[in-house]
Amino acid sequence: MTENWKQRKSYAEVLGRRIALIDEGDGAPIVFLHGNPTSSYLWRSVLPALQGKGRLIAPDLIGMGDSEKLGPEDPSRYTFAQHSAFLDALLEKLGVTKNVTLVLHDWGGALGFHWARRHPSAVRGIAYMEAIAATYKSWAEWPAVAREAFQAFRSEQGEELVLQNNAFVEGVLFGMGTLRELTEEEKAEYRRPYLQPGDDRQVTLSWPRQLPIVGEPADVVGIVEEFGRWLTTTRGVPKLFVNAEPGAILGEGIQRDFCRTWPDQTEITVPGVHYIQEDSGNEIGKAIADWLPPLA
Ligand code: BEZ
Repeated sequence: MTENWKQRKSYAEVLGRRIALIDEGDGAPIVFLHGNPTSSYLWRSVLPALQGKGRLIAPDLIGMGDSEKLGPEDPSRYTFAQHSAFLDALLEKLGVTKNVTLVLHDWGGALGFHWARRHPSAVRGIAYMEAIAATYKSWAEWPAVAREAFQAFRSEQGEELVLQNNAFVEGVLFGMGTLRELTEEEKAEYRRPYLQPGDDRQVTLSWPRQLPIVGEPADVVGIVEEFGRWLTTTRGVPKLFVNAEPGAILGEGIQRDFCRTWPDQTEITVPGVHYIQEDSGNEIGKAIADWLPPLA
């Protein structure tokens, strides 16, 4: 599976850059969005249960996986707004316009919720897990296990920790993000886009600095509040909340309580911390296949 992953990808030119993606099967699109510091590879054990159920699209976000990296000459690189612009353009280019099921994790959550709010008539349903779903009013709302690390990433120590030491991959994904230890082969695939210290890892540093914590950055706070209002008040958008035990950012706490107020929602629980596809991928795939809402 691992050595074939890259070979399964196709490429799309979007906003003048190359985006890598898995794009397999036909029919209503099911779009899988990963977060930091993963790639489409995160979805490898979720996809099989959905084969034959639609067109399975799993992009690598810009700068991640096998998608092109952006250079320091671009002052807006790797902001939420820029990731969102790439996603909008990619889905438009792929003709993803109706009966769209979104399957969302981590920053893929915020990107997908934001897309859904702006394309409500295109959405068939939203499955989400360990997603950025709400703002954090204080650091006390951020999981205790990761608080110190994320505060450091947002400080001037971030460059050394992430760009030099690859701390988002080695410390967060491998160090605290899963119940099981990943195999060396799996670790190698996650390390592959970030082998060179320095600029190649910038995207994994920019993401924690985009987190809407204590009012900053203001544009991301505004976007997250806006889709939160939409998700809370709009009826008729089926949702599957994949709760994790023990979970992390949607583990026990006010973020999860907030998600549980969303209407038209089914909930299941699987074992996992944050990268729950690594501990419960098959189960998640089967749950999504069973939940898939009817076509419009
Ligand atoms: C994350 O948001 O990436 C994360 C948070 C807590 C534990 C592990 C990962």
